[in-house]
Amino acid sequence: MAQKMWAGRTAGETDKLADDFNSSIHFDCRMYKQDIKGSMAHAAMLGAKGIITQAEAETLIAGLEEILADIESGALDINMDSEDIHMFVEEVLTQRLGDVGKKLHTARSRNDQVALDLRMHLRDEAETIIGYIKDVIKALLIIIKDNKTAILPGYTHLQRAQPITFAHHLLAYCFMLLRDIDRFTDMKKRMNVSPIGSCALAGTTYDTDRYFEAEQLGFDSICLNSIDGVSDRDFVVEFISCCSVLMMHLSRLSEEIILWSSWEFKFIELSDAYTTGSSIMPQKKNSDMAELIRGKTGRVYGDLMGILTTLKGLPLAYNKDMQEDKEGVFDAVDTVKMCLQVMAGMVATMKVNRQNMLRAAQEGFINATDLADYLVKKGMPFRTAYKISGTIVADCIARKLVLETYPLTDYKSHSDLIDEDIYNEISLETCVAKRISVGGTGFESANMQIEYLESKLD
Ligand code: ARG
Repeated sequence: MAQKMWAGRTAGETDKLADDFNSSIHFDCRMYKQDIKGSMAHAAMLGAKGIITQAEAETLIAGLEEILADIESGALDINMDSEDIHMFVEEVLTQRLGDVGKKLHTARSRNDQVALDLRMHLRDEAETIIGYIKDVIKALLIIIKDNKTAILPGYTHLQRAQPITFAHHLLAYCFMLLRDIDRFTDMKKRMNVSPIGSCALAGTTYDTDRYFEAEQLGFDSICLNSIDGVSDRDFVVEFISCCSVLMMHLSRLSEEIILWSSWEFKFIELSDAYTTGSSIMPQKKNSDMAELIRGKTGRVYGDLMGILTTLKGLPLAYNKDMQEDKEGVFDAVDTVKMCLQVMAGMVATMKVNRQNMLRAAQEGFINATDLADYLVKKGMPFRTAYKISGTIVADCIARKLVLETYPLTDYKSHSDLIDEDIYNEISLETCVAKRISVGGTGFESANMQIEYLESKLD
């Protein structure tokens, strides 16, 4: 085993199991790029401030650049015997450059280094996630535009409630996802604050320039308290919170996709590319992908509870407990990215069965509110109209009729106010078309919503 960086203070070897237990390279290796970029900015700052010579800074930067290129080309494997990614990069740099390599860690600690790397890494991942969310919204918008006039029952309590358009229903999901983009964007503002230069916890005696490093690395500002700089993991909590809300939205959409593709509903049919069969029941076409997205939501919530619990009660400043921040948030990142991509593909390829939607809308008395409103518009108080409409629905059910086929003479026996025009008034198209209140399901409303969403996506 390579000699420990801290051999000097201690002479004894670390126990093999303890060494593995302590090591984080298996998961923090994914931050190699941010670690190297951070070190390049650090070397540049050390040179600019005269803490090392300009020539040394240039040597370090060139060496780091080479390490980055070698990792990316596959010429350099990350050594899993190193303790973490920070040690690995420094070890390779020193092997390659000799003593100059040993100067990189001047005026720095792994405590501020890891905080920096993680902020930079999650900042990049947030951008990728935002892009993937946009892809789901775009996939939804295509189906929405194709189905502006498709009518289905809107539900409350999962009971047929009022007729709506399929477009209007799916647009609700677009707004949820738009808020997710907002949430990630807003979270990124608080995350984009540089901790580097906080050092171990108390700052440093060297004449460093924290603003220089922050600017080189694209940060908006720096943490003004070094203890906070190394011990703050709020950005991890916030990041996984954003992921959790997003997953909750994807899970709700998944649940509807599962319901809609059941034989009981048959509102949509998923593409073969996004379904599986059963190993025993030949007739089955299962919506496993949607079920998995719904299922993985629990796992992301678990990641959130994990980090909250790890941080609870931690004294200032850095504690090794904080190494536990990474696996959970990386799991959330991987899960969310995978779910978003699968969701976009599943939505883009699903077939919409307008006929079945319409049939469901015709059977559930979902125009009963409109019958009551008709009576109100003819002068009857709403409560009275509501009661009469309920009585008519009950009579229809008893006689196996629907409001559209209920005879005019029968209508008239309930109220003289009802005329021939009732049939047009309670047609599903009219029910939808007349809901012109802003944000309602009326046919025009979808256009306004689409326009808004598209302007936001640009
Ligand atoms: N691998 C560590 C982590 O992820 C890096 C920081 C180590 N700092 C220390 N003082 N041991 O948190």
